[in-house]
Amino acid sequence: MEPRLGGPVSGDDIPPVDYLSWYVPRLQENRPHDLSQSGFEYDWDLNLDDKKLLGFWNSGSNPAEWVASRYGVEVDQVCVTHGVCQAISLAILAALPEDGPRVVGVEMPSFAVVSQCARLLGCEVIPFHRGPNEGEWRLNREEVADILPRVGVIALTPVMNPSGEMIAKEDEDWIIEATREAGINIVSDEVYLDAAMGTEFYRPMHLRANNVISVNSLTKCYGLGPLRFGWAIGPANMIQNVRNAFHNLQGMASAPSMAIAEAAFPHLDMALEALRKQREVNLPKLIDVLTENGIEWTPPPIGIFGLIPLGTNAVQAMAEHGSPLGLLATPGGMFHKDLANHLRIAWGGNSESFEAAMPVLSQFLKSIQDENN
Ligand SMILES: Cc1ncc(COP(=O)(O)O)c(C=O)c1O
Repeated sequence: MEPRLGGPVSGDDIPPVDYLSWYVPRLQENRPHDLSQSGFEYDWDLNLDDKKLLGFWNSGSNPAEWVASRYGVEVDQVCVTHGVCQAISLAILAALPEDGPRVVGVEMPSFAVVSQCARLLGCEVIPFHRGPNEGEWRLNREEVADILPRVGVIALTPVMNPSGEMIAKEDEDWIIEATREAGINIVSDEVYLDAAMGTEFYRPMHLRANNVISVNSLTKCYGLGPLRFGWAIGPANMIQNVRNAFHNLQGMASAPSMAIAEAAFPHLDMALEALRKQREVNLPKLIDVLTENGIEWTPPPIGIFGLIPLGTNAVQAMAEHGSPLGLLATPGGMFHKDLANHLRIAWGGNSESFEAAMPVLSQFLKSIQDENN
């Protein structure tokens, strides 16, 4: 069920995103104990201007200005998109050299949309690894060095899904230097990075190098996934390519999404503050349940999800033991086959429902242990 890398595809060859084929029906079951959400659950109360919902593009507001001002860049360095899922394809297209190889090096483990999408853009996708078998989620530099002469662009996710682990600063320095020397651009999916704002781990890659397009959205750290509001930030020339790609493939962005995002933007820091509080309240409860069940685990230093070792196949365990208990969490094998015995658990849900899920999670872990003994 891991991402399906390989050559260009069309028609019957277009691969499913196995993770979404597995996840969406289970999400629709509306299980009472949902620890699957990698996005923060925040109770937004927005003051909306009804006229703008459909009339946004005649209102004189410019979404790129709000993004530029929040992230300290120029307006021409920003292109607004419908979420990272769209931004990632546009950024890969924009960052690929017109006369270079149509080959994309993608970091694994990864969320399949990030690693598979380039196949639909007529590219071959080849992997390099950060973890899962290198200690402490370190980058496999030999692998990167080996593929650099063959690729047109590199795609990575500094705060990785599913581990929640931030790329080590030394690995980040190294890959920036190695790609710069090779004349290769990077597309950096920073959809989970804003949870680190205000800490040493907050290092948006677009600020560190001029061969990078960073993509981000209001989906995960700001709890506004359904809005489909995202953006790409990078050097003005590459962002113009993103904008051209956007116009070719999307035309205009959705006016209601822009209008709702405009109402949310002044309050984004409040949402981040709430995310940090939610972590403080929920995470110790999760650690207690794991310790009680003999699972030693160190959470990633920032963010609202992490990966725990289950000792058994997580898809099967969810089916046999999770489903009857009304529990939902995400099997690690959706991101890399070597994580099949891991479960991604998210703690960004509201504190009452998270607390209610903890005895259920404990029961789930005990059922697995009973079966294995
Ligand atoms: C690494 C990663 N990038 C992007 C997304 C989706 O982002 P968006 O909702 O902005 O399209 C996800 C969602 O799970 C993700 O895990």
